[in-house]
Amino acid sequence: MDVDFDVKHGLEGVAVAISSISYVDGKKGELVYRGFSIEDLIKNSNFEETAYLIWFGSLPNENELDFIVSMLSKKRELPEKIINIMRLFPKNSHPMEVLRSVVSILGMYSGENNSTLEDAINLTAKIPTVIAYWYRIKNNMPIIHPREDLKHSENFLYMMFGEISQYSELFDKTLILHAEQGMNASTFASTVTASTLTDTYSIITTAIGTLKGPLHGGANERVLKMFEEIKSVDNVESYINALIENKNKIMGFGHRIYKTYDPRAKVLKEWIKELFLKENVEYFEIALKVEEYVLKKFENRKIYPNVDFYSGILYNFFNIPKEFFTTIFAMARIIGWTAHSMEYCKNNRIFRPRSIYNGPKNFKYKEYKRS
Ligand SMILES: CC(C)(COP(=O)(O)OP(=O)(O)OC[C@H]1O[C@@H](n2cnc3c(N)ncnc32)[C@H](O)[C@@H]1OP(=O)(O)O)[C@@H](O)C(=O)NCCC(=O)NCCS
Repeated sequence: MDVDFDVKHGLEGVAVAISSISYVDGKKGELVYRGFSIEDLIKNSNFEETAYLIWFGSLPNENELDFIVSMLSKKRELPEKIINIMRLFPKNSHPMEVLRSVVSILGMYSGENNSTLEDAINLTAKIPTVIAYWYRIKNNMPIIHPREDLKHSENFLYMMFGEISQYSELFDKTLILHAEQGMNASTFASTVTASTLTDTYSIITTAIGTLKGPLHGGANERVLKMFEEIKSVDNVESYINALIENKNKIMGFGHRIYKTYDPRAKVLKEWIKELFLKENVEYFEIALKVEEYVLKKFENRKIYPNVDFYSGILYNFFNIPKEFFTTIFAMARIIGWTAHSMEYCKNNRIFRPRSIYNGPKNFKYKEYKRS
């Protein structure tokens, strides 16, 4: 066996880039974009401005903000041919499959020689439209075309449900929370793809496929499924005990970096608590009980709720079906994926790690060929 180097399982503790995009303090539970804490940004900023900040490295002035807002609103519509292709997809396709496929197809319509930034803006503008169109097509409803006069989040909820939500600002803040998070699995996957100097549509197709997995962005959908199965607060303990006995992961808990409460989960929980006082917010009481019981069971194990534990309750409140939850994550995280790809490629080197071979080396074809 080749033993010149070690295997870092899951690349734990390995740094693959130097980056000024975000800072994650896993011990203190802090997340900072370009120097600004997420708590500061959700209080004072909006998705478009935060996207500018993450892409360009500083807050925009008025003209710069106008530019990004106008670019994002003008590029929302999809080519008619793509809408027709979407109508041919099987209705039971998962929204993440649809998003991954349509982003890939959009690459054929993008024109040549665009900068990654132009493609990033184009995809950031169009991804909400893909999600909303698929929601309407899947449910045999007429699609609702985007409106240029609405903000990014307002327009998305309008295209989904045909009205301006009074809670679109809250939705917008959830996008800020999900926009960036260091070298997580999908950002790493997108950076690996970018390091081959391929196009942005390939990069984002890779990232969406990676985010879809249940250990990553796909966890939010599974968390809601868990709440649905639990049904009542009284069933929480037996349900969680069964998961632990069968050595199943509890979705929405644990994190490679956060060994304390995920700051995004903390913020989401506070918002839901406030909302719960005046609105019917399904599953919140079950979630609180799950959290309390899991923390008790995992005492001293440093396993806490992560961002996916509470986000689904909020999306469910917005009437977004659970199969669509991870697409909302993608709609925000495209900012981080593209920012990291652009940053990495400024000082690019193709990713080419090793694996240690532990198989045989001396087989002879004629001896092993079976008749
Ligand atoms: C996020 C996650 C993939 C991180 O993985 P990781 O850093 O490789 O951590 P590991 O899976 O090696 O977990 C370390 C230990 O904690 C346990 N653990 C971690 N998360 C757990 C969870 N959600 N439920 C039960 N046990 C968990 C593991 O079983 C392991 O125990 P062991 O040391 O006895 O084998 C993992 O915590 C997980 O699968 N969580 C559930 C899915 C999820 O919510 N993903 C969204 C992440 S934002």
